[in-house]
Amino acid sequence: MSSEKPAPSGPEDRMEKIVALAKRRGFIYPSSEIYGGINGFWDYGPLGVELKRNLKDAWWQDFVRCPPVGPDGRPIQMVGLDAAIIMNPKVWEASGHLAGFSDPMVTCKDCKKHMRADHLTMVSICKVSVIPDKVLTDEDSALSEVENEPTGNCFLVADGATIEEVQAALRRRLESKRAKIVPRGKELFAEDGNKYYWLESGYNTDWPKFNNLDSRCPHCGGELTPKRQFNLMFPTTIGAMEDSSSVAYLRPETAQGIFANYKNVLDTTRLKIPFGIAQIGKAFRNEINPRNFTFRSREFEQMEIEFFCHPSEADKWYEFWRDARFKWYVDQGLKSSKLRLRPHEKDELAHYARACADIEYEFPFGASELEGVANRTDFDLKAHQDKSGRDMTYFDDETKEPRYIPYVIEPSGGVDRATLAFLCEAYDEDTAPDENGKPQSRVVLRFHPRLAPVKVAVFPLVKKDGMPEKARAIYDALKPHMTTFYDEKGAVGRRYRRQDEAGTPFCVTVDGQTMADGTVTIRDRDTMKQDRIPSDGVLAYVRDRLT
Ligand code: GAP
Repeated sequence: MSSEKPAPSGPEDRMEKIVALAKRRGFIYPSSEIYGGINGFWDYGPLGVELKRNLKDAWWQDFVRCPPVGPDGRPIQMVGLDAAIIMNPKVWEASGHLAGFSDPMVTCKDCKKHMRADHLTMVSICKVSVIPDKVLTDEDSALSEVENEPTGNCFLVADGATIEEVQAALRRRLESKRAKIVPRGKELFAEDGNKYYWLESGYNTDWPKFNNLDSRCPHCGGELTPKRQFNLMFPTTIGAMEDSSSVAYLRPETAQGIFANYKNVLDTTRLKIPFGIAQIGKAFRNEINPRNFTFRSREFEQMEIEFFCHPSEADKWYEFWRDARFKWYVDQGLKSSKLRLRPHEKDELAHYARACADIEYEFPFGASELEGVANRTDFDLKAHQDKSGRDMTYFDDETKEPRYIPYVIEPSGGVDRATLAFLCEAYDEDTAPDENGKPQSRVVLRFHPRLAPVKVAVFPLVKKDGMPEKARAIYDALKPHMTTFYDEKGAVGRRYRRQDEAGTPFCVTVDGQTMADGTVTIRDRDTMKQDRIPSDGVLAYVRDRLT
């Protein structure tokens, strides 16, 4: 059997580099790494915590403290909330999470791995006779696909599988025939005299014929259990007694904390419909297969808005929030060409939703959801009214219209997914001249200055002639206003490159001329251009460029 491993393709390679950089520079570490880690949990290091905080602060500033103008031309009314992570379990009965917040799961009877059944894909491998030097045409593969249906050479691979994984699965499949697979791009050759061709098209396992096909474990080829539903909520117990009455859950979304407090907020403020309640906080889901770095984790943060409006205006507000949230990601630095809005088809919509669109970002591992914007109708408030017996209706004392339950538009984003998207977007490799003007390759994180973990670094050119003292004084003056970093170790070119890797937009250097005329150089991370400005003008210079 060949041990040849093809070089990782572009996007996988890029993702590997981003994960390595995140660890090396202190953005994101595997959680409890000293004990071998824990699947689905991540820790944010010194740079990561600043990046994530800047992202949350930007969201809070732009939607809670200074919200945009709405489609009616008036500034939006928005207030914040910070609800408890553990709530009365009745909340989850009312919301439907206890009964229905589950994913379909299968387990391998041999290797005991659990897999999400809807994340497995049927891949059809066509068997064609080897005809030397013949290039397969689409017609050939289509023909073979038909010939191989429905049971021929179809088997399961994990969704989004790499070619190596498909090859491994095919190898397992052919082992009984003593076949040897030699990987060559997307064509798979076997020594049994046949040529196997991986069709790009896969079938989701919800495909009706799934149960008749060879549904073996994609990891070891073992037999799989039938599909069963697995609830994603993490249970815990409250108090000293552990019985059914003490069971509670870590919240799987922040949204229900908002619905449960809707009446409190209405009664304790002067808010009138339409208005929103915003919350940022942790959520927990016992995901069957956490994957793609922090993209699918078991503990993560959400930033959610529940926007309460009149049912007749819900369509208008839905469109407004969908577009406003998309634009926000672009304004913070995600390229619009890498973002897309994916409206849900009717059969994909949750039963209570009238409309929903995902904002997807093109991660190196594929385009995936950053945020969902949904019109949840009056489903949640009605459900809590029914379960709690509390009146959730709204009376408008100006219009005197009969009481009604407001509709809710929900923009629901993941903080960790957005942090990962900004990290992926920022990652770049180029060349920068070293101290002697020679081009040297560098890694640079091109964060929007607003999100950059460190805004400005201050260096003395050398550790003598009063330069460290002057640089320290500039550092001390900047520190109360923005995250600032001081570094006097090593060649200045190396110090620039370390800051480029951390995504620091500006580096200030105190040199011989500073000591003569009080000016410093300030270097731009992206253009590498240096301006010379008075040292007491650094704060204004950087501030002007932060937003
Ligand atoms: N209240 C609606 C709600 O929770 P969701 O689509 O399940 O909707 C909203 O989650 C957002 O939360 C997602 O768009 C994603 O950004 C983030 N999210 C969900 N599950 C996640 C996970 N396992 N890991 C990281 N982020 C997750």
